[in-house]
Amino acid sequence: MTARSTLADAQHRKRVAVLISGRGSNMAALLAAAKDPAYPAEIVLVASNRPDAGGLATARDAGIATEVVDHTQFGKDRAAFDAALQAVLTKHRIELVCLAGFMRLLTAGFVAQWQERMLNIHPALLPAFKGLDTHKRALAAGAKIHGATVHFVVPEMDAGPIIMQGAVAVQHDDTEATLSARVLAVEHRIYPLAVKLVAEHRVRVVDGRCLIDGEPVPERPEAFY
Ligand code: GRF
Repeated sequence: MTARSTLADAQHRKRVAVLISGRGSNMAALLAAAKDPAYPAEIVLVASNRPDAGGLATARDAGIATEVVDHTQFGKDRAAFDAALQAVLTKHRIELVCLAGFMRLLTAGFVAQWQERMLNIHPALLPAFKGLDTHKRALAAGAKIHGATVHFVVPEMDAGPIIMQGAVAVQHDDTEATLSARVLAVEHRIYPLAVKLVAEHRVRVVDGRCLIDGEPVPERPEAFY
């Protein structure tokens, strides 16, 4: 790579698609961060597998292109759904994909096309509490610390190299609602930070673990990376 192309790449804002299935509050947090022209990524597409996803309206109101690839049109053919999704991402010249409450398992072939260019946010401190109902299960287990994780996507669900985590203390009187609200606030902080690091090429995966280049100690003590 020449010095000139390196500079051009550093100045280029990565074209990001956010994939949602529901309300899209993490998507909204990413949109808010990307409003800053200095942020190294721009959200150019919000896509959903559900036409009724609430976040689609939020995206449209913000002037972001939206696409729906309705999974019910593909029956059990996951590969066909993923091919349709890939066509949409190609059409919008997407460079990074952020899953944000996207409730679909993706095929290994699709995931391979986006290796280290597709992120997910999960509402627990992975590898604890993979899957659904994480807050309920953290409470039932008596966990004292809970939180959220941003990770690269691999074919296995809720696995993949961990980019960033944010933690909250579990209070003795927490309910699923109070705990999930505090974790969600953490999600909204760490997802934009993690996307920034990836867009700036500061995340390297070595032996399945993420190394972050030159990152100073975060000013928020509850965010770890
Ligand atoms: C978040 O808790 C996220 O971690 C999980 O699904 C939820 C989506 O919420 N994967 P929202 O649609 O971003 O508000």
